[in-house]
Amino acid sequence: MQHMDGTIFVIMGVTGDLATRKLIPALHELLKDGHLQKCAIIGVANDQTATIDSILEKSKSFIPEPNSDVLQKIRDVFVYQPFDFNDQSGYQKLKVTLENLESQFGFSGQRIFYLSVMPDYFAPITQNLALAGIIKKGDNSRIAYEKPFGHNLASAKSINKAIHSVFDESQIYRVDHFLGKELVDNIALVRFTNLFLQPLWNHQYIDNIQIFLNEEIDINHRGAFYDRYGALRDVVQNHMLQLLALIAMEPPKALDGQHIRDAKSAVLQCVKVEDVIKGQYAGYRTESGVNPNSTTETFAALRLSIENDRWTGVPFYLKTGKCLRAKNTSIHITFKSAQCMVSTPCPPPQNHLIINIDPAHGFALEINAKVSGYSNQIAPVPMTFCHSKLCPNSPEAYETLLFDIMKGDQSAFVRFDEIEHSWAIIDAAHAQHPETPPTIYEKGSQGPDELKIWAEKYNFVWRD
Ligand code: BG6
Repeated sequence: MQHMDGTIFVIMGVTGDLATRKLIPALHELLKDGHLQKCAIIGVANDQTATIDSILEKSKSFIPEPNSDVLQKIRDVFVYQPFDFNDQSGYQKLKVTLENLESQFGFSGQRIFYLSVMPDYFAPITQNLALAGIIKKGDNSRIAYEKPFGHNLASAKSINKAIHSVFDESQIYRVDHFLGKELVDNIALVRFTNLFLQPLWNHQYIDNIQIFLNEEIDINHRGAFYDRYGALRDVVQNHMLQLLALIAMEPPKALDGQHIRDAKSAVLQCVKVEDVIKGQYAGYRTESGVNPNSTTETFAALRLSIENDRWTGVPFYLKTGKCLRAKNTSIHITFKSAQCMVSTPCPPPQNHLIINIDPAHGFALEINAKVSGYSNQIAPVPMTFCHSKLCPNSPEAYETLLFDIMKGDQSAFVRFDEIEHSWAIIDAAHAQHPETPPTIYEKGSQGPDELKIWAEKYNFVWRD
């Protein structure tokens, strides 16, 4: 079993939602499974009332099977250091704590800083860590930035510039938790290790590609954050464009961090926004923290094109929203119809390759097969692979990602140029119909009525 030792995790924003629900539970799992044996954790937040016990107690309910020995182990190596992220003296104390822990445990300086804070803090925290002499360009420390990375292209560029003055890109881990999901991790491997897919993966054989991130949940008490962001910035800029990049990128020279990211960056640069639908669920404006006149979209559908030899003429439809009928994160690749020969119907139904990410995990390939009897009647049948049957105990996305940061593997993290190309796409989407307010849609529906108009106008069938 591969395991990593001697790391100090510094979680900035330790009392926040992500640390509570995901990061501390992920550390628990890594310790429980033995992937992590010796570590220390320093939690930082601007909350004088929190304590180690209150932080761990809150997190415990998000750990699927809390183990009391592991929880005790975490408590033994956990230090809580409350300070304001703009207060230099707090960083001086942090430096002393880091040095004391390293000498107490005999660690040799591998430090991981995880910034689970709003992006406005990314540059100041990074610069304050450097000013206090806690980190130096090219040293043994790594820094992870939780999404969203900025608010638009200009802010992302300015954060990149600020953090590059302190860190080398090889030390920077821009987190997109979708890249830690098993089925997302599978996309490039499936694409490039199955020979039969390779000649078909282009505009000659693919009719359209649809990517869904439909959510049943609402904004989950995050009104103040969400109203500033909206669906395009919250999930399209990152999760959905990363899925598109993995599906559409050219074969990388190797499946390693540098080459995968070169290939994703190159394809994101060729994406053009053709059309956008924005929606807002009924009742959104009365959610706590939301402006009563808000025009923030809780739903977005995009029609994108990719201007390169492989994808010319193939529309990519992305659709996401809160309060939709059911959770469904999936990718549907629809192939063109085969030639009309002797079968009924003629032409035969199109084949589909479906990658189910959540809540189902797996693949399905819909092929045509003969219906029993004497006719030439055919019908689509799914050939399905259910991932959880093969691998019932897959790690959670954040476990995989934390482990990758410890190993120094950047392949599941987003490089500065990918981030900037993605924001350019989102800025272009916002620039479409800027004066048109989002259409109100009913909770529990599939989204605004314009979806039907698109299906007719662009002559395709929504697959969700
Ligand atoms: C987060 C968004 O990044 O992704 C949330 O901020 C969204 O609004 C979530 O609900 C979806 O992720 P998952 O893994 O639950 O599908």
